[in-house]
Amino acid sequence: MTSNSRFTLTRTLPANATDAALASDVTQGLTRFPKTLPPKWFYDARGSELFEQITELPVYYPTRTEAHILRESAPEIARLTEARTLVELGSGSSYKTRLLLSALGPPLTYVPVDVSESALAEAGHALLADHPGVTVHALVADFQQRLPLPPCPEPKLLAFLGGTVGNLLPAERARFLASLRARLGPHDALLLGTDLVKDPATLVAAYDDPDGVTAAFNKNVLHVLNGRLGADFDPDDFAHVAAWDSDNEWIEMRLRARRALSAKLPALDLSVDFRAGEELRTEVSAKFRRQGVRAELAAAGLRLHRWWTDPAHRFALSLAVPAPVAS
Ligand code: AVJ
Repeated sequence: MTSNSRFTLTRTLPANATDAALASDVTQGLTRFPKTLPPKWFYDARGSELFEQITELPVYYPTRTEAHILRESAPEIARLTEARTLVELGSGSSYKTRLLLSALGPPLTYVPVDVSESALAEAGHALLADHPGVTVHALVADFQQRLPLPPCPEPKLLAFLGGTVGNLLPAERARFLASLRARLGPHDALLLGTDLVKDPATLVAAYDDPDGVTAAFNKNVLHVLNGRLGADFDPDDFAHVAAWDSDNEWIEMRLRARRALSAKLPALDLSVDFRAGEELRTEVSAKFRRQGVRAELAAAGLRLHRWWTDPAHRFALSLAVPAPVAS
């Protein structure tokens, strides 16, 4: 734990925890059919940088739409929650965080939670400079596994923005929302960002930009495997695929082998074969409807209290509060 008067950082992940998780995810994902990898492994330094670039693409509407909604709704969020602690899952875009911090006002405790200690340290220190009344307690944690919150002033607002909840599969999502519910006291609230179902052309375009930034982001997972597991993937052997699954109402990103190939992953003592044209699923990004969000929240013991959207209904912010678990 490192601290000065207003910045504390607590590491709750053993130093090698992410190595073990990566090894297990890759072994399981690449030895099954169809092959899959969880999207969290996109985000090394280069992947995070590519994602930042994605958020600035004209076709990628979610980030700026959510920021627009937040600009409009932040005062109401502050009034409804009266939160004294903001817990943010994924240290997030500092812009959206700042909107919330400014609306809530001091004195305030800000708890960013992320697996990346460097991201937390950078973002945390930058915020301190601009928000004198804010105390930062950064938490290095995998919030999908465990969320060991420090003692902090009540009530708290838990924010999970960006539509990242859509990167979880439905069963994972149910478990995850229930685990968040378990962290909430009676006066706490959850702020959840969800991308919305819309015409497939708009959705697919957001995940297949003409400059190939999303393609590079998708292929970055292969660079991560090469760097961390000594794998010998040639990212050029794979094509970026973005497809709309209308049954599941989610976007899938895949990497399609351009030819039959075999890759070695020495750290896992594993060799993996791809048929020509075989696809590896690297991400699902679920899109939501209001009734679906309401139902998923209810199943987790949360009541949808307020719903904000943009004029074109592209993206939504939900404010949910504890409720009895629906039977
Ligand atoms: C992590 C949810 C913000 O699913 O839209 C962007 C990640 N993937 N382009 C999403 C992503 C491809 C993104 N979020």
